Amino acid sequence: MINLGVNIDHVATVRNARGEKHPNPSTAAKNAIKFGANSITIHLREDRRHINDNDLKIISSIKRIPLNLEIAANSKMLKIALKYKPNYVCLVPEKRQEITTEGGLNLKKNKKKIKHAVQKLNNSKIRTSLFINPSINDIKMAYEIGSDCVEIHTGKISNLIKAKKNFKKEFVKIKKCAIFAKSLNLKVHAGHGLDYKTTKTLNQIKQITEYNIGHFIIGESIQHGLKKVIKKFIKILKK
Ligand code: PXP
Repeated sequence: MINLGVNIDHVATVRNARGEKHPNPSTAAKNAIKFGANSITIHLREDRRHINDNDLKIISSIKRIPLNLEIAANSKMLKIALKYKPNYVCLVPEKRQEITTEGGLNLKKNKKKIKHAVQKLNNSKIRTSLFINPSINDIKMAYEIGSDCVEIHTGKISNLIKAKKNFKKEFVKIKKCAIFAKSLNLKVHAGHGLDYKTTKTLNQIKQITEYNIGHFIIGESIQHGLKKVIKKFIKILKK
C-alpha cells in the first residue's frame, strides 16, 4: 500500500499573509484525511513562517489525524515533539534564509545529535524518519542511527522532469537507494517538489511506500479543490 501524506504548511502561509484566522490549517487537515490522505505533514520551522505552535497543539490533539511533524534536530524542537507526541517525526535540515528545505540532512556532520534525537523519539514510540539526499552512504548512516524510515529528497529529479531534461541518472540513483534502504529494513518515503507527473514517474519504484506532498497539492486545490486533487493523487499511487 502506497501512502499519501499531505503537507498543509501552505494553508498556514495563506492565513499568515493576513495575520488572521482564515484559512484554518486544522480544517484542511481534517478534510485531507476525509478525502483519503493517509497522514498530514506539518513543518514547525524555527521562524514559524507558516505552521505555529498553536496549529501543532490543535492538530496533534485530533486523534483521527495521523500526524507527521517535520522538525530540525535540535533540543528545542525535540522538546516540543516529545510534548505533543505526533505519530511520526521527520528530522529535516533547516536554514533560516532558505525558501524551502533545499537538501537532505548532513548525517556525517550531525550523526551524534541526530542519533540522540532518534533515540528519544523512539523511546516515546514516535516513528522516525530522516530527510536525506539520495545517497547510499546516507542510507547506511540512517540505518546505523536507528531511524525507522528515510525520506528521499526528490527536489532534483522533480526539477529535471519539470524542465523536460534527462532525469534517468537521478531516477536510477533514487531507485538504487530505495532498494538498498529496503534491504536494511528501512521504510522508504519520498518528498519535495512533487506534482502529478513526478509522482507518477517515481511510483515506478516499488520500494517507495509513502509520498509527502505539499506545495503542489495546496496550489492545485485553489483551482480544483482539495478533494479532486487528493483523489487524483490516490489514483496515481494505485497504479
Ligand atoms: N518532505 C519534506 C521532508 C519536506 O521538508 C517538504 C517541504 O517542506 C516536503 C516533503 C514537501 O515538499 P513540497 O511542498 O515541495 O511538496
